[in-house]
Amino acid sequence: LGKKVNVGLLGFGVVGSGVKQIIDNNQEKLQHQLDCEINVSHILVRNLEKYENMVGQSTVLTTNPNDVINNDTIDVIVEVVGGVEQAREYILQALQAGKHVVTANKDLIALHGTELHRIAKENNCDLFYEASVGGGIPLLRSISDGLAADRIHKIIGIVNGTTNYILTKMNDESWTYTDALQKAQELGFAEADPTADVEGLDAARKMVILARLAFLMDVELDDVTVSGISGLPLEDLTYGQQLGYTMKLIGTATKNKDAVEVSVQPTFLCNEHPLASVKNEYNAVYVSGEFVGETMFYGPGAGSLPTATAVMSDIVAVIKNKHLNVNGKQYIEPLYDKKLLDKEDTISQFYVRIHAKDETGAFANISQLFKQLNISFERIIQKPSKETKVAEIVIITHKTSLANFNKALEKLNESDVVKNVASYYRVEGDA
Ligand SMILES: NC(=O)c1ccc[n+]([C@@H]2O[C@H](COP(=O)([O-])OP(=O)(O)OC[C@H]3O[C@@H](n4cnc5c(N)ncnc54)[C@H](OP(=O)(O)O)[C@@H]3O)[C@@H](O)[C@H]2O)c1
Repeated sequence: LGKKVNVGLLGFGVVGSGVKQIIDNNQEKLQHQLDCEINVSHILVRNLEKYENMVGQSTVLTTNPNDVINNDTIDVIVEVVGGVEQAREYILQALQAGKHVVTANKDLIALHGTELHRIAKENNCDLFYEASVGGGIPLLRSISDGLAADRIHKIIGIVNGTTNYILTKMNDESWTYTDALQKAQELGFAEADPTADVEGLDAARKMVILARLAFLMDVELDDVTVSGISGLPLEDLTYGQQLGYTMKLIGTATKNKDAVEVSVQPTFLCNEHPLASVKNEYNAVYVSGEFVGETMFYGPGAGSLPTATAVMSDIVAVIKNKHLNVNGKQYIEPLYDKKLLDKEDTISQFYVRIHAKDETGAFANISQLFKQLNISFERIIQKPSKETKVAEIVIITHKTSLANFNKALEKLNESDVVKNVASYYRVEGDA
């Protein structure tokens, strides 16, 4: 290994500029650990003028991808342009040119990770993406290395900072969804087009990456049940609070025997659950293994320097692999054929808000309906609604299968005493 490792950045936005900042400011520690200098030698951008004053003489800014990707002096390419197709092209070309690749791009890895790993392996190159899930939290390597010998059976987490910020403000400050989203956009936590975040897609992509690593199974985005938080009524969060629950956008990946289930959905957590106290833009992921028991990873899920820290850990891993001459050998292939759990069989508690006729016997009628399906109640609130002659009933059920709960919904919708089922959510009791 030479005395200098050159890094080429594709993109110089929030994450890219953070990576250069860390390399420039923490050279002493990096050199001590790696016995070589790290240098950002080339950066690909679209608009040279925008970035001119941000880099010194020793770094070349270019708008030509070839100057970085096919540059013989560069060892590691860091893809932080974002998006899918262009980024995929760049990474494929880089791997084919024998470069090790580090990326923060969850969209790309969730969609094309399998293909990219194959190409990386064929070219004896490393492909790492620690920053793609949980920003600065050292999570992926903890799962793949730290828990390498365990059998992980459940991952449950808050993996999207934008939605966690919105839900925190709704829960703690009683802001409406619209106000909370607007504030998140003003503060830069939410993008101008927040669809991927608020509809749960961003979290779903991250859960796919986690599930693949944890279960060694080729889970795909289409296998994930996704529902987001857009338009969530504040009333539900308020009722949840009264009952001792906090609403979070929760990603779960569960393995039961040899089948897995991955989902992202707004979920009520009982207030004692460790994830219930994860606030604002923070992320946290709970990983349960047969041998280790329960572990929790917590930290900033985004931001320039936190995310760049995770990118740096990948660059360090590439350089250590170079020292040992083991690049391209770290990827663990899927071990098991994909087997998905039938979602109808998943078991959980549920929250349901019902508008019923405000008349004698209505509640008894509804109770009876649940009883027939063997669904018992853990908590209940009943009060007259603002609408005349309508009572609002909120129920937290004990555990039951989704199939059985769906039957209850069907019966509620058919019942004479029920005007409508206003909303329902999954409930996570204990961790
Ligand atoms: N921001 C975070 O906290 C965070 C956290 C975890 C993961 N990530 C992931 O990290 C990646 C980068 O995010 P970011 O927040 O750093 O994005 P960003 O601030 O928008 O920066 C993107 C950079 O890439 C450049 N770029 C975009 N398309 C390009 C193209 N086709 N050719 C050349 N340059 C191009 C942009 O240049 P111009 O300015 O000239 O357009 C800009 O310098 C994304 O995959 C994101 O999901 C971000």
